[in-house]
Amino acid sequence: MNKIHAAITAVNGYVPDYVLTNHELETMVETNDEWITIRTGIKERRILKGEGLGTSDMAVPAVNGLLKKRGIGADEIDLIIFCTTTPDRVFPATANILADKIGAKNAWGYDLQATCSGFLFGLATGSQFIETGKYKKVLVIGGDKMSSMIDYKDRATCIIFGDGCGAVLLEPNEEGYGVIDSVLKSDGSGVPFLHQKAGGSVSPASHETIDKREHYLYQEGQAVFKFAVTNMAEVAAEVMERNNLKADDIAWLVPHQANKRIIDATASRTGVSPDKVIINIERYGNTTNGTLPLCLWEWEDKFKKGDNLILAAFGGGFTWGSIYLKWAY
Ligand code: UT7
Repeated sequence: MNKIHAAITAVNGYVPDYVLTNHELETMVETNDEWITIRTGIKERRILKGEGLGTSDMAVPAVNGLLKKRGIGADEIDLIIFCTTTPDRVFPATANILADKIGAKNAWGYDLQATCSGFLFGLATGSQFIETGKYKKVLVIGGDKMSSMIDYKDRATCIIFGDGCGAVLLEPNEEGYGVIDSVLKSDGSGVPFLHQKAGGSVSPASHETIDKREHYLYQEGQAVFKFAVTNMAEVAAEVMERNNLKADDIAWLVPHQANKRIIDATASRTGVSPDKVIINIERYGNTTNGTLPLCLWEWEDKFKKGDNLILAAFGGGFTWGSIYLKWAY
């Protein structure tokens, strides 16, 4: 019997309607379109507006659309891995909330927290359940409502992040298509540079934490930039080298959309030419767990069966990694 790989057999995405442009940000903090464009490549981002809406509310249309595309019912899903840094609630898992909302009655699920590398970690984890033969249909979702933890008084962070969600379906493939290899890394010494100060068990919510604005994302941008630029490029190159892939063998480089300059550095290190690098940061900014599946969703029509894709990400924690997969349809 041939080896079972976990192949992506459907992809879909959802971004909220509201467009927060650089020009609108100019009215909120001291910034300007030129600075944001040159330093990040971002022109606009989407924001989920509306009382009581959370990350799962973006996953519902993303997943319902995916199921329709694949022509299957929610009751056929075995497992839901929801990669998010902005879960609906601290508990229970957003995967459970989503399963109920879409009617995935036969699925179990859990949330996976690995910040911007979450979707990669989820893809690698979900693949294991397929490769062992244990499950036939695994949903891996990457989504974040970053606007729920962004301080719109902090110009260093509010210009970067946006809201969005994407989802893929993993199914067994015995023809050699699917997830082939991964290099995944975690380094907790990166915590000081990118984290949320309060709201967890170390510093539960109190009047004081609210007054000190500690429930917002805290980032030391320059330090994170340095780590990201080196490490994301390194792992992408590593996964290519150990699979004997040259730049010309790569159909698409799918980088996490954190900063256009980090994307360019990764492309340059791998040697992949600019026309093969997927970039939509100008329209969505950094949607954290959402960036990679949203890229796959938007480029799906351009992919061909057998295309070699290299996915790469870097995020808080620190976490980073790269996945090599062969597109299956
Ligand atoms: O996905 C999760 C991982 N996160 C990342 O990968 C983010 C990595 N970091 C970055 O992308 C960049 O560091 C930023 C985009 C966050 C910042 O860009 P930078 O080129 O590193 O700028 P900087 O922090 O060094 O700031 C340069 C100057 C400073 O002014 P002075 O001290 O030189 O006078 C800032 O105060 O730019 C100023 N500045 C701004 N000016 C206008 C910072 N933010 C803004 C702003 N508009 N929004």
